[in-house]
Amino acid sequence: MQEEELTPAAIRAIKAVKRLTGVDASVYKPNLIERRLRVRAADNKCGSIESYVDRLETDETLGRSEAELIVASLSVPVSGFFRDPWIFDSLEKAVYPDLFINQKTLAARRGANIWSLGCSRGQEAYSLAVSMFRYKEAVGSSAKISIFATDVDANALKIAESGHYLERSLSGIPKSFLRQYFEKSSEGGWDVDRKIRKLVRFKQSNAFDFSSHPKDVDLILCRNMLIYLTVQAQEALLKALWDDLRPGGFLVLGSSETILGKTGRLFASVASMRNAYQKPA
Ligand SMILES: C[S@@+](CC[C@H](N)C(=O)[O-])C[C@H]1O[C@@H](n2cnc3c(N)ncnc32)[C@H](O)[C@@H]1O
Repeated sequence: MQEEELTPAAIRAIKAVKRLTGVDASVYKPNLIERRLRVRAADNKCGSIESYVDRLETDETLGRSEAELIVASLSVPVSGFFRDPWIFDSLEKAVYPDLFINQKTLAARRGANIWSLGCSRGQEAYSLAVSMFRYKEAVGSSAKISIFATDVDANALKIAESGHYLERSLSGIPKSFLRQYFEKSSEGGWDVDRKIRKLVRFKQSNAFDFSSHPKDVDLILCRNMLIYLTVQAQEALLKALWDDLRPGGFLVLGSSETILGKTGRLFASVASMRNAYQKPA
């Protein structure tokens, strides 16, 4: 599929953002960038993206904070607990046995190293932690669970790290899980229980800083982030994720995402699970 092209003004904005923040915004789809620039231009009462970019390039005081706002606006922190619930059922059937039961895999011996990439406000990482904790207890495994969760959005990570959520954001959680794995907070809302929190470690990190990626990972969840990236950036990231997995490790994408281009030859599909791929052992 032919991707839209960036306008000259958007190309200039991307250069300015790179100079002011170090972030390469060209990985995001042109129409997302254009939409966000239009909003920033309107907020700054500029009549066009061109005049907004003129100010971005020349106004020293405005430049840096605006560049940071552009970067923040490109991250879309929409998420939820147990988003696409079938994913968690499929993980139990297709992936967890390999991590917790099969003694031939490294994970069962040294513990399961999991990475939630683009974890937003932590809902995905905590959902995984609950689901793995329950599975591990059910099969009586002693394998350690270690979930590393990263996102580029510092504000989203503040909520993730607090482990505190408002009642309305917990609608995806089965009632019985809420009682077992969350505590009602005296301030209102709910706190993730300590036994679940200690399984997850959060860190701010840009997915395109490949040198910061964890290595020898058993399972990567990278869901609903690729859709915002250009095809070229998706391919580069997928290749890097292949490098980060241990042989036999799993990659799970969002329900409308798929491996593409040359990466299609690197991964094998997981027969019993949609949107799941495996690095050959
Ligand atoms: C739509 S949310 C998906 C959250 C979660 N994975 C889910 O499926 O519910 C996309 C997340 O990707 C993050 N993101 C976008 N670009 C990123 C980048 N370059 N590095 C790391 N995270 C990024 C955003 O900040 C946002 O929190």
